[in-house]
Amino acid sequence: MATGPSIQRIKKEKRDREVEPPEGMSRRRFLTFLGTGSAALAAGSSGVLVGCAEGEEGGRQDGQQQENGSSGSAGSSGGQKAAASFGPIQPSDEDDIKLPDGFRYDIVRSSGDPLGGGMVYGDHNDYVAYFPVDALDGGEDSEDGLLWINHEYINPMFWSDYTDTDGETKKTKGQIDREKAGVGGSVVRVKKEGDAWKFVEGDAMNRRIDATTPMGVTGPAAGSDGIKGATEVTGTLANCGGGVTPWNTVLTCEENFQDYYGQRTDDQGEPGQGTDDAPEALEIAETYRWLDDPEGAQPPEHYGWIVEVDPFDPESKPRKHTWLGRVRHENAAITVSESGRVVVYTGHDQEDQCIYKFVSSGTYNEGDRGANMDLLTGGMLYVADFAQGKWVAMDYENNPIFKDNGYKDQGDVLVRTIDAAKLEDPETELPIGTPMDRCEDIEVHPKTGQIYASLTNNALHGNFYGQILRMTEKDDDAEAEEFRYEIFAAGGPQTGFASPDNLVFDRDDNLWIITDISSSSIGSGIYSTFKNNGAFVLPSGLDEGAAGGDVVQFASAPVQAVLTGPAFTPDGKTLFLSVQHPGEESEDPKNPTSTWPNGDEPKSSVIAITGFA
Ligand code: FEO
Ligand code: CA
Repeated sequence: MATGPSIQRIKKEKRDREVEPPEGMSRRRFLTFLGTGSAALAAGSSGVLVGCAEGEEGGRQDGQQQENGSSGSAGSSGGQKAAASFGPIQPSDEDDIKLPDGFRYDIVRSSGDPLGGGMVYGDHNDYVAYFPVDALDGGEDSEDGLLWINHEYINPMFWSDYTDTDGETKKTKGQIDREKAGVGGSVVRVKKEGDAWKFVEGDAMNRRIDATTPMGVTGPAAGSDGIKGATEVTGTLANCGGGVTPWNTVLTCEENFQDYYGQRTDDQGEPGQGTDDAPEALEIAETYRWLDDPEGAQPPEHYGWIVEVDPFDPESKPRKHTWLGRVRHENAAITVSESGRVVVYTGHDQEDQCIYKFVSSGTYNEGDRGANMDLLTGGMLYVADFAQGKWVAMDYENNPIFKDNGYKDQGDVLVRTIDAAKLEDPETELPIGTPMDRCEDIEVHPKTGQIYASLTNNALHGNFYGQILRMTEKDDDAEAEEFRYEIFAAGGPQTGFASPDNLVFDRDDNLWIITDISSSSIGSGIYSTFKNNGAFVLPSGLDEGAAGGDVVQFASAPVQAVLTGPAFTPDGKTLFLSVQHPGEESEDPKNPTSTWPNGDEPKSSVIAITGFA
């Protein structure tokens, strides 16, 4: 029998909890928002104003956008900043990138393009980070820099000529080698020449890191039984989101790692299961079949980590930081706490999985890049308990729950983070980590420190449009062990976006939201009004203390593509985006469902968008 709070009690406590207006917003204005009828759903406890000025009823309905150019700017209402000025576009189902009038895009690199020295730009580009070329000297050069770009996965049909969509035939070693060279990440030097951004051929910084690159391992799992005693592992893969550290390295996140070398158990369902050496057969059947090459196979436990890369040193060895846990890491959002500790927020993108944060033991020293490089090698991992508003330390030494459930040491807890987060708190009879609706990107607000997390959807629970969650740490301190949260914005026809994924704040604190409706659902059924995936802007209202205003569409992706990555240059004048998997539903390479960008074979490409005032 339950001795702790029941779900009903927790629900009642939530009902009874007095909803406070967001910081900086007057109670009168907040209550006005709550009373604005149809706008109240999206406003909720957050104060997001949907399509109306104070006290007005209104807003965009049925997924329809304002007429192109009619508003003149995103963020034009109610004293909001109007930095992101553009005429919002309409949803589009064209096989092209659609942008507002006055904007253009350059293709920087596409899947398979040469990077020099025999290197090729990988497939399925994803997260993008822009580093000013003078960043290590404190510079903000916005026309000359390095891009770090993740390559999340490959489409065998186009990348390695493996066209068996049923996966019944064995892959050759040559095909697998080609695929290993298609994942990981790229460092590419880029420069703006005149109006156009160009890849700098032959630059010494250009680099590929892929599934064969030697990597170091740090933290409690390094050398542990859980990773077969390894202190060095081979390669990175499934690189989805990421983040930039204050010392100008990149964190790249291994997400769907199970697709390459399988997994010990089916989703690591139960602690203690599947401890023999054979990865779970069911998982392998659904993977990229790299296990077709047993000699090149790696242990599954070598993947699922967050990897730190120094883009400024082409000889540097990437490191997997095991203190940040082993899950299907979507992202890494980095901030510094009041006391100077480095905090990394990360989500596990799968239905009913958790949100985590790492807090470093050491403190950030702006003048000592060498010392900062070690900050992610020691600290503590926490999992978010939304039922109690607490961060639960996944601390083997001080929380008996791990020993009591058979975990051997801290390294074991970190290798099996997914299982460990599901352990039931004996007091509450709830898992120590709250199951969430597929956490995609997380961003920390540059001024308020609040944490914005995209929960993209969760079909298991009838959440098809997703929402953006906003968390506020106790006393606004990133290393706090308590937090409160609210639904900041809800996806759906009334807000015009669905399945939020990547997020980024621009330099004026407008929140950019990129959507990821799955290719098989785009333009049909409940998703029909949204048409292709896009990039949206939720204007900042920080002058008035809270976000407000319409969510407006800035860009539309080609057919079956998603726009990933978003990264602005420091001057805010260029937005880099990765266009990922156009034509993803193709079944015949000779008859693809998209021909973007060149009118023939669809190719993921990183683009530079200019035209910002
Ligand atoms: Fe790689 Fe969860 O998107
Ligand atoms: Ca982001």
